[in-house]
Amino acid sequence: MRRARNMSPAATQELFIALSKGKLLPPALQWLARTGYTFSEKDLAGRKLVLTAKEGRLHAVLVKADDVPIYVEYGVADLGIVGKDTLLESEAEVFEPLDLGFGRCRLVVAGKPEHQKEDLRQRALVRVGTKYPKIARWHFDRVGVQAEIIALKGSVELSVLAGLAEVVVDIVETGTTLRENGLVVYHEILSSSARLIVNKASHKLKSAEIDALLRKE
Ligand code: PRP
Repeated sequence: MRRARNMSPAATQELFIALSKGKLLPPALQWLARTGYTFSEKDLAGRKLVLTAKEGRLHAVLVKADDVPIYVEYGVADLGIVGKDTLLESEAEVFEPLDLGFGRCRLVVAGKPEHQKEDLRQRALVRVGTKYPKIARWHFDRVGVQAEIIALKGSVELSVLAGLAEVVVDIVETGTTLRENGLVVYHEILSSSARLIVNKASHKLKSAEIDALLRKE
């Protein structure tokens, strides 16, 4: 287990929450507004990476989605809002007390329609393009498919179109990206939504503040 380095000021019992700068940010800010914390439009529109709520006592650190579980696991942030898909891929040791319900999507295996009905177990090796190499490895080991996992950073669908991979393991939200690139879903691996995550030490040391936030939700 990685050791928590709690850099947030426990003495003042202020809370730090890690938020991702992508698609989850608007609904995460709406959720925080319901708990009584709002941020200045000027700060949100600018390049500041640490924002203090207008009401004080809560600070948001804005990071890449993949980094949210890391900031929370190490205790730099007490709390975080992150997709279940990203959380599983991170293998971070954090508490996950709340399914926030937004950011719903599916993690799927997808590829060209002509191979949709094929049994991938019959192939000697299947090359898989993905931003989720750990979940992909877990999935294909579980279903008995010999897979070579090719870890990518983005535009994963291109790996099939370009012949780098035969299938992808990727997120489907509206289905537009798959459709516009002529790909189809083969299997669903899991469904995902945004989760509130909590650092294990903060859960004990700041339980009153965290409980108060959850009660207002
Ligand atoms: C994600 C995902 C798909 C797309 C799915 O990519 O990897 O490409 O969204 O959404 P859709 O079903 O609504 O089309 P993202 O936008 O995060 O960008 P990326 O290609 O850089 O990974």
